Amino acid sequence: MTTRVTFICSTKAIRDDLLTQALDMSGVELSTHIGSARALLTILLKERPDVVLLDFPHADEQALEQIEAATLQASGTPVVLVSPDTSLKLLKRAMRAGVRDILPTPITAGTLQRAVDYVKESKSISTRFSGGGGTVLAFMPVKGGSGATFLATNLAETLAVQNKRVLVVDLNLYFGDAALYVTDRIATAHVVDMALQSHRLDATLLAASVLRTQGNVHILPAPDLPNQIDAVTPDALEAIVSLARMEYDFVLLDMSRTLDRLAVKALDLSDRIYMTLQLSLPTIQAVKRLTAVFSGLGYPSSKLSVVVNRFYKGGAFRQEELDRATNMLAKRIVPNSYVAVTESINQGIPMIQLAPRDPVTRALQEWAQELAPVSVKPAKNWFSALRGNPA
Ligand SMILES: Nc1ncnc2c1ncn2[C@@H]1O[C@H](COP(=O)(O)OP(=O)(O)OP(=O)(O)O)[C@@H](O)[C@H]1O
Ligand SMILES: [Mg+2]
Repeated sequence: MTTRVTFICSTKAIRDDLLTQALDMSGVELSTHIGSARALLTILLKERPDVVLLDFPHADEQALEQIEAATLQASGTPVVLVSPDTSLKLLKRAMRAGVRDILPTPITAGTLQRAVDYVKESKSISTRFSGGGGTVLAFMPVKGGSGATFLATNLAETLAVQNKRVLVVDLNLYFGDAALYVTDRIATAHVVDMALQSHRLDATLLAASVLRTQGNVHILPAPDLPNQIDAVTPDALEAIVSLARMEYDFVLLDMSRTLDRLAVKALDLSDRIYMTLQLSLPTIQAVKRLTAVFSGLGYPSSKLSVVVNRFYKGGAFRQEELDRATNMLAKRIVPNSYVAVTESINQGIPMIQLAPRDPVTRALQEWAQELAPVSVKPAKNWFSALRGNPA
């Protein structure tokens, strides 16, 4: 399969250099232009390449705005910058503009290979949901306090009631407290321990390390103190999640709002991303931006879902505004139930056990049912039951 790579170079010398590098690469159809971010939108619309590499010699706000406008209008093609500045600060800003990654200059054959890998990655992401192994679900709060942790942990408990094997990984490495939402048991190991051991990680070690809740959900909690969290590299996370995918039916990633390399790796590895929010005008703007970032990361819209949490009828906000902002992405609604949810979190007892008839619990059950349909067997009538025959 040929990958169509478009490279926008800032100078002719860079382009010539690139063409020499690309000589030996097979399976790549390269199109080059001399220009800058200003040309990005036109080129994206005209060529519809599989991936665009944009030479980005100086971090420049105006150029980033042009990139943002281009990735919003012509979404779906990963845009990768090539720059001498690969700092986290620029990466975060660029990601908000819909950029997939920043690769360091100078350009080598490796640069092109990475671009090709991004295309393969986004294709495999879109086909993975139907593939083998467990399902990985990411919960990302669009704004702080949207309910991502509450929903991830309580959906996990609801899935476990349906006899699914479920692992929650707390990726709020600074003071994450997902385990506390559903259990009073104390963890003996956490994500950092797993990352430090990622080279020798296996099913036995993972099983011995997880915290088990009363409802039989397994949790890899965040560390009590943010020590050695640098050990949780994107590669270490990939090792943990890949193993977990083999061992569990569902792996739920409780995320923070940060978009750094680790978060992007977590999102890459996920089959579905639940953007959790509570309806408000700033939230709508935030979800719009986040959707643009995800589109820049090459995620198909089928991978994205919006979860409207704490919904109540008669709220000042009209849902059509959300629909318009999110291009009709899949949506799930969880009602507001202040007293029961607060009780559940404060006692560390999941909703399914503490308040089985609460509307929030019902919404979680519906959600779990969608993810793991339970087949209802027809009841036997008393005569065939007596004879032991199937009805
Ligand atoms: N459906 C709900 N009904 C009522 N209250 C809720 C509901 N969902 C969440 N809450 C409340 O919102 C608070 C924040 O939830 P949570 O900690 O899960 O958010 P978060 O998105 O993980 O936040 P953070 O950005 O801090 O990680 C909870 O303490 C809980 O009291
Ligand atoms: Mg949280």
